[in-house]
Amino acid sequence: MGNGNPRRRPRKKKLANRVDDVLDATHEQSAPTHDLELPKENDEVKSEFDGTKIETHTPEKVRELGKDKKEISEDPSYPSTDLTDDDLGDFLNNKQGEGTYSEDSLSLTLKVWRQSGPNARGRFETYLVENISEDMSFLEMFDVLNENLINEGIEPVEIASDCREGICGTCGCMINGKAHGPEKATATCQLHMRKFKDGDTIVVEPWQAASFPIIKDLVVDRSPMDRIIESGGFITVPTGSAPDANLIPVPKDASDTAFDAAACIGCGACVAACPNSAAQLFTSAKVQHLNLLPQGQAERWSRTEDMVEKMEEYFGSCTNHGECHEACPKEIPLDFIAYTNRDYVKSKRKNRKLLGQTP
Ligand code: SF4
Ligand code: FES
Repeated sequence: MGNGNPRRRPRKKKLANRVDDVLDATHEQSAPTHDLELPKENDEVKSEFDGTKIETHTPEKVRELGKDKKEISEDPSYPSTDLTDDDLGDFLNNKQGEGTYSEDSLSLTLKVWRQSGPNARGRFETYLVENISEDMSFLEMFDVLNENLINEGIEPVEIASDCREGICGTCGCMINGKAHGPEKATATCQLHMRKFKDGDTIVVEPWQAASFPIIKDLVVDRSPMDRIIESGGFITVPTGSAPDANLIPVPKDASDTAFDAAACIGCGACVAACPNSAAQLFTSAKVQHLNLLPQGQAERWSRTEDMVEKMEEYFGSCTNHGECHEACPKEIPLDFIAYTNRDYVKSKRKNRKLLGQTP
């Protein structure tokens, strides 16, 4: 009998056998033939593309290159891996400025508000800080000042900070009369010293608003803002299990605008910058980031009324100066104030109607 049915598929080889076959084939292909001899030391190969000479790296050549490399690394003007950063700096400077780096440092006079407690009398103290790198943040410059003060046995300046990346909102203070300092849309912790010049005098004060009493030095009590958030209450969203991503469709415009509102970090710069110490921009951002979303509709009217009226308890009223937006490190748009005023008027009417329906 022959091989049986000619239409029958050949039996599959075991995987291990197939791997062996492939390895053998590769090995055969890469085995040197008499046509492919190893290049000799003096052979030179012409590049097909640009006619550049390509030197062959025979073992002898590699040894020779290694010797050259050793000679180079023994050259005192050549940086080797065992040189320190300082040596590298010297090396770069020896090259007549080629690739030279110099770290510009600043000497600054700081006039800082010192106040030992909420009821103590405050005053400005003047300090000199030197060797401040332009790459330092404003808070890092304060770290240097505080280390100097500690070394001299003086109590360090209290300044609040947490994230140091413009997220938590704790670090605000008035710098040269501006909330968060001279750079627009930048929180104090993200302000860099390159924004100042050598020899500058910088005046640093805490937020100034009756609703933000000073706790110590540059730290103020911003808890009235927390009272506004608390009065907003909760939103009715089932939290039992992870919902499908598209369970509640949200229009793109609404989600983008709500996200802009949610960017508020609650720093209080808007209050400090406002001539009325109003918290309208903060409150509006907090109200609208929920009011704009479908998930925020269930409690929309009660939340708006409660938060706006809580704001009125602690802060002044808005008279459309717009200073809040200018000072805001997150550039919260003034539009949110208009949306909130509209929602507040509606909420008064709707809540009264709902009240009338209550048995
Ligand atoms: S609105 Fe702007 S300035 Fe006011 S608390 Fe929010 S982030 Fe700060
Ligand atoms: S330290 Fe968090 S925003 Fe500045």
